[in-house]
Order: sequence, then C-alpha cells, then structure tokens
Amino acid sequence: MLWGGRFKYGLDNNALKFSSSLSVDINLILEDIEGSKAHAAMLAGVKIISRHESEQITKGLRTIEQEWKDGKWNPDAEKFEDVHSAIESRLFELIGDTAGKLHTGRSRNDQIATDILLWIRKRCFLIQDSIKNLQIILLKISSCHINTLMPGYTHMQRAQPVSLAFHLMAYVEMLERDKNRFEQIYNSNNQSPLGSGALAGSTLPIDREFTARELGFNKPTENALDSVSNRDFILDYLHACSVGMMHLSRLSEEIVLWSTSEWNFIKLADSYSTGSSLMPQKKNPDLAELIRGKSGRAFGNYISLASALKSLPLSYNRDLQEDKAPLFDSSFSYEDSLELMASMLSTAEFNSGRFREEMQGDFSLATDLADWLVLKGVPFRQAHGVVGKLVQKLEMEKRNFKDVTVDELKKISPVFDESAVECLDINNSLNRKKTYGSPNPVLVQKRIEELLKKLV
Ligand code: ARG
Repeated sequence: MLWGGRFKYGLDNNALKFSSSLSVDINLILEDIEGSKAHAAMLAGVKIISRHESEQITKGLRTIEQEWKDGKWNPDAEKFEDVHSAIESRLFELIGDTAGKLHTGRSRNDQIATDILLWIRKRCFLIQDSIKNLQIILLKISSCHINTLMPGYTHMQRAQPVSLAFHLMAYVEMLERDKNRFEQIYNSNNQSPLGSGALAGSTLPIDREFTARELGFNKPTENALDSVSNRDFILDYLHACSVGMMHLSRLSEEIVLWSTSEWNFIKLADSYSTGSSLMPQKKNPDLAELIRGKSGRAFGNYISLASALKSLPLSYNRDLQEDKAPLFDSSFSYEDSLELMASMLSTAEFNSGRFREEMQGDFSLATDLADWLVLKGVPFRQAHGVVGKLVQKLEMEKRNFKDVTVDELKKISPVFDESAVECLDINNSLNRKKTYGSPNPVLVQKRIEELLKKLV
C-alpha cells in the first residue's frame, strides 16, 4: 500500500476491486519503468539519493522488466491499485528499503500523465508504419488496375466511369492524411509532465530538464497544474483513431458491396472469409464487417473520455483513471484493423473485366458528350439540356448510347458530327480526362509512382 500512514484500516476488498486499474494500465508497464529509471537517475544527479541507491533502483527496475517480459512476474489485480503500486511493491521485494526512495518528489499524478504520453508517442510511430504498409498494398494493387474500368457513383447512382486504381488511390490519400494526424500528435506533445508532482511541483530541487531529455521530450511542461489535469493528447489520439477507423469503415463497406454476387467485383481469399453455420454455400466478408462495426466503438471511446473530462475541476481527479480503457481499446482495434485490411486486400482478387462490357453504352458518358458540345461553342447549360433530351429519348426507347448514330445526334443538335460518337466509347473515356487529379491513367500512374518512391 502506497498511502497507508494516516489510515487505521485497509481498503475494503470490494472497494479495491472496484478502484483497481491494474488490469488495464498494465499495458503501461514498460513506460512506467522507463519513467522511473529516468527519475532515479535524476534524483542521483541532484544528489537527493546516492549514485549507489540510484543504481540499485535501476537494477531492480531492470529485473522487473525482464521478469515481466519472461512471464515470471504478473501482478495480481486484486492486490494492487495500479501498475505504479505493483511495480513499487515488487521493487521493495527485490531491493528492500531503498525502493522507498524512488517516489521522492514524484506523484502518481505526474507519473501516469508521463506514462500515457510516452506510450502514445511510441504508438504514433507504430501506427504510421501500419498505415504505410496498407498504403503500399493499395498502391501495388492500383498499379495493376490503372485501366480497370468501374462505375463511379454519386448518390449511389452511376455517375462517371473511373478506374479501380483511381478509386483505391482515393483511400491512399485518406491514409496519407491519417498518417499526418499521428505525426502531428507526436510533434505537438513534446513536453514532459514528469516533476509536476501531485499538482504544484516540489520543494526538492527536481531537475525536470534532465528527465525530459532522458525520456525523449524537448522540454518540461510549463504549468504543473495543467500537466496533471491534461488529457488532451489522449483525445487527440482517440480522434485520430476515429478518423482512421472511419476511413477503414468506408473501404470495408465497399469490400462488402463488391463481394456480393450483384457486384461480383472482388473475391476474398478463403483465409480471410468465413462461412455460415446454416447455409452451406455462404462465404461472408466478416472481417470487413467487423472493421466497419469496430469504427463505432472508436467514436464511442472518444465520447467516453470527452464526457469524463467535461467540467472536471483541476487538477487530478480519480475520474481520470477512466481514460485508459478507451485509449487501449481504440488503439489496439485500429492497429488490428489496419493489419487485417492489408492482409485481406493483398490476398483478394479483382474481376478486372467486370464492367467493360456492361458500361459500354450506359449513360455514364453523358457529361463527356455535353463537354464535347461545349468545345464546339455551345453554352454548358444548353449542352446539358441537349444531352438530357437524348438520354430521355433513348430511355423511352429502351436503348442506350451504344447504338446511337451520328444522324440521330444531328437531329437533336446540328452541331454534332462524327467525332461526337467517338466520345461515347467507354474504352477511351479515362484517357480523355484532362484535369489534374482526374482518373486519367497517365496521371494516376504518376501519382502511384510518386508515392511508391516516397513510401517504399
Ligand atoms: N491509477 C491512477 C490513474 O490511472 C494513477 C494516478 C492515481 N493518483 C491518485 N492520486 N490516486 O489515473
């Protein structure tokens, strides 16, 4: 027990069970030890403890770290309030009373803030790597499908033809933004809370610059009260996870759609699909559905912490202990989702020829035909009307653009000539796109190469 002095009786068992966060904050064990090592070295540096004592503490902490990694020490959640108390108690067992010097000039309040920040900063790197891995897989698939036609939609209605590469590259751009979000979190949380004490610093000559440097921060935080109350960085992280999951949920939704027999556009590998316990023929895209489903939980986690922080008076209140479950839940499920999405896509097969026939003659080139008129000097509004009329007529006759003749076109507008029919050929539709950022295969190819060069 870390705080027994002024108490006559120990904590009730149920109360301890209710208040223990060990089963959750055990995830911070390595960061907690890292912070304690820096703190012990600093205490020796400012001569609050001796070199020998600092070495004893560090050695003990190393042993605990090794015991944990080897599975030889696993503290009981029914016995300890949190990871800090569990480590301190083990340190006492290992090195005796010197262990009692480690907590000098430190509170669990600045300790936990430091631990979480260290954990998040490491995780930011890891997640950026996983995002990059998924991007590379999407880029590789895209490079094989620059000319794979598929319908592009707005309002879930066929709008204009695009390519599979162009469609997947939209996700690569989203992932690029996701990565930047984590990079920003890393860069903007570069101050160490350690040494802020419980809320108001210390009368001991704690060297906060030293511990900040030791732990890889730029400098110490400016205000002790803010430092122990602040959980903005977790909110930032949960927000970044939410947006990342939201993007994955959109991709998941498309995978689910594309794998239906109606779409028949993607075939998932057996190893990333599941069957039905009742219907023998079923092959289900469960992993995509689960990623889609887990995104809801990620949003919930943000709200859960934001609600805990709302109106919370300064500084540390035990409510803050509830910050960790949402943090780990979002982070782990986002990391798993990124990994599974990458495996699922890299083993999937696309049906490249699926839309080439079907889109020949459908109305998705109507805009291109209107643009053709514009280039002949017809005002766009008028051109829009002319092509609209043509579509209406063909629909009534149960026909489409496939068998439209020049004569027919001329009847609708005398401006039309032979070359207008050419722009209704789906096979050349992507090549005719002129604008930067369009699905023109040359531009898509260029962007793929640019990103592959940057990422691989
Ligand atoms: N387990 C606590 C948490 O996660 C650590 C800080 C506890 N501080 C305290 N004064 N009870 O927030």
